[in-house]
Amino acid sequence: EKGTYPHFMLKEIDEQPFVMRKIIQEYKNEKGELKLDEDIRQAMKEADRLHIIASGTSYHAGLVGKQLIENLAEIPVEVHVASEFAYNTPLLSKKPLFIFISQSGETADARAVLVKIKKLGHKAMTITNVPGSTLSREANYTLHLHAGPEIAVASTKAYTAQIAVLALLAVDTANAKQLKLDFDPLQELAIVANAIEALTDQKEAIEELAKDYLGTTRNSFFIGRNVDYYVCLEGALKLKEISYIQAEGFAGGELKHGTIALIEEGTPVVALTTQKDVNHPIRSNVQEVVTRGANALIISMEGLEQEGDAFTIPQVHEALTPLVSIVPMQLLAYYAALHRDCDVDKPRNLAKSVTVE
Ligand code: M6R
Repeated sequence: EKGTYPHFMLKEIDEQPFVMRKIIQEYKNEKGELKLDEDIRQAMKEADRLHIIASGTSYHAGLVGKQLIENLAEIPVEVHVASEFAYNTPLLSKKPLFIFISQSGETADARAVLVKIKKLGHKAMTITNVPGSTLSREANYTLHLHAGPEIAVASTKAYTAQIAVLALLAVDTANAKQLKLDFDPLQELAIVANAIEALTDQKEAIEELAKDYLGTTRNSFFIGRNVDYYVCLEGALKLKEISYIQAEGFAGGELKHGTIALIEEGTPVVALTTQKDVNHPIRSNVQEVVTRGANALIISMEGLEQEGDAFTIPQVHEALTPLVSIVPMQLLAYYAALHRDCDVDKPRNLAKSVTVE
């Protein structure tokens, strides 16, 4: 039920702090510590390489997950678009573990890969919002997102839930491998929940930005570096699927290798900066597009903000910034679509779950 909300999408964006708190609750043991099932721990410890298989938004969560798992648990990870892997399978190592990320658990592209790798004798884990779903039933292990039903076609709370669960999986594996980490993921997630809440309280400001920057444009760019680049891919997907504005997520440094030719007077460029070591380089990339007439909307994290930035997000642990930085982008997409009279919850040509290959 939508309750007092005009759209499911807005309701689901607002639910994200509760989902973060629910995940904290569900994944801690009686002692208040993070602990995943022993068989999942074992499977992660034994794997010599992980393959994340997903589509759309879930693929974008997988990109963030790769970084979390490689940095924290020190296992190499490949992320694959499900529809590509099915017909273009890479060379596999001796003990791979496959991680399927799917909100619905019913996506046909991922199912085709699951069938294939099972035939090859490999193990699979599914991270899903629907534990009884096909991908969950057919995999060896399941991690539940606990996001509650997601109705809007544009995925929002499932994306942040996927990243949160991937972060917990990464930390749990690091713990199982006795690697030393200097943060408590459950505490950090609680800080994230509060930060998201602070952002969803600023809808009016974001609505204004959506009107100013995206009100009439036909195209737009989202640029970031490092993990911010992955969030930009997701921010761009949100905008294009519900507002029909052409939107491209780009690695900031890659623009000058061709795409910058598309920047003209007034082209909106949303730039994201949450990572200290790339704050300077991404700001140089912003300068490059501004010089060519772009209308830059800079979203920065507290501590890295500069005069002229359009929006600042509260500071959270550097590994978890995607959980927070995506929220203004979700809201930008929502308000841009609203102002263009688009059907926010049911965009044209799209279905909530894609059950054909
Ligand atoms: O249910 P899944 O997570 O497998 O769905 C994957 C994609 O179809 C889905 O994320 C799609 O990209 C969304 N409409 C994005 O908002």
